[in-house]
Amino acid sequence: MIIFQGARTMFGEQTDVRVESDSDQVIDARGLTVMPAVIDPHVHFRTPGLEYKEDWRTGAKAAIRGGCTLVFDMPNTRPPTFTAALLAEKKALIDSQLDETGIPLRYDLFFGADKQHLNEIPLVRDQVIGIKVFMGCSTGNLVMDDDESLHAVFSLAAREKMLVAVHAEDEHLIQERKANYKGPMRYEAHSLLRDVEVATTAVAKAIALSRRYGTRLYVLHISSAEEVELIRAAKQEGLPVFAETTPHHLFFDDSAYASLGGKAVVNPPLRHGKNREILFSAIREKVIDTIGSDHAPHTLEEKSRAYGECPSGMPGIEFMLPLLLNARHEGLLSLEEIVSLTSQRARRIFNIPSYDDVVLVDLEKRETVTRTESKCAWTPYQGLSLCGWPVYTVLKGRCFNLRDRVGNG
Ligand code: DOR
Ligand code: ZN
Repeated sequence: MIIFQGARTMFGEQTDVRVESDSDQVIDARGLTVMPAVIDPHVHFRTPGLEYKEDWRTGAKAAIRGGCTLVFDMPNTRPPTFTAALLAEKKALIDSQLDETGIPLRYDLFFGADKQHLNEIPLVRDQVIGIKVFMGCSTGNLVMDDDESLHAVFSLAAREKMLVAVHAEDEHLIQERKANYKGPMRYEAHSLLRDVEVATTAVAKAIALSRRYGTRLYVLHISSAEEVELIRAAKQEGLPVFAETTPHHLFFDDSAYASLGGKAVVNPPLRHGKNREILFSAIREKVIDTIGSDHAPHTLEEKSRAYGECPSGMPGIEFMLPLLLNARHEGLLSLEEIVSLTSQRARRIFNIPSYDDVVLVDLEKRETVTRTESKCAWTPYQGLSLCGWPVYTVLKGRCFNLRDRVGNG
């Protein structure tokens, strides 16, 4: 049993928090607040095939530092996870990497929807958290841009009672924008080539498919006011539609290209103006259900390439909780809203059985982002001073003191 003496609950009451554990420990937790550990429903830990960007040894350390004990990993690896055999191979690799690092991180996997491999979906029904559909191309070449395949996957998912998670950007519109673009090929062009209409066209199509087949739909990385309105209307209609946003869409806008250059290139892109504010309101109004880091590391060398050669994506799992706690400090979110966003809603949407992993946070601790566990060795949040940090993460009865090194090696 681990006893956190004198910790505070979310509602500010002082209490001793007990967590089942093989080891007996009493920890002075005065001044710390206990929350459920973070569930990150959207990471790219890059195994197999892209381990030079990230692997589960470094990814797990970054997760623990971010107060996160359960991640859902995406299938756009090399090769992609789109057959039952590849899924089994991926799990074996992950388990061995986690074993090596001594962090028994909880994980689930998304299965990749691919035109040539739809017949594999029923085989993995009970082994995955859902089906990932890339409606527009991104890192890797898992893309499903034709209506016939989209209808097939949504109807199959409904029949198998599986959830579909969509990367909602319309591939045809992206190609059209690229063909017609005459401006300079600077990083800023990314937000024009994949503009809000690219996203809303795909979100509207995915919602229509959910309506038609009754498919449970999880819309990944909502980034704009217009998408928020589509999700709001779908929920009002009673459709089984859920929405995620990301830390980078909450905490950056398209002015970040000036300071971050290629590091700010991400799909969907950073947006202009008022969108961030509207995402925060949508969280408070419960139109947005969850936050996923969309932790998508690439090396510094890759991110320093010119626009067109620079891959999309940025790491985020390690600083998602501190960023949210800092937003609480600034009065943008309450602790209850953060808990809903980082664990309660995900637990309901994905039917996660209960467990008692927790994170103890110091709401008053101020620290500057200076280093990261991610293998890519950079973070877009470098140099930010944030108020509110995790101090202990408890995973399966194992307590990680975040002031110390976590994991082996
Ligand atoms: O920016 C992105 N990066 N968006 C995605 O959809 C994929 C991700 C990655 O895997 O690099
Ligand atoms: Zn992603």
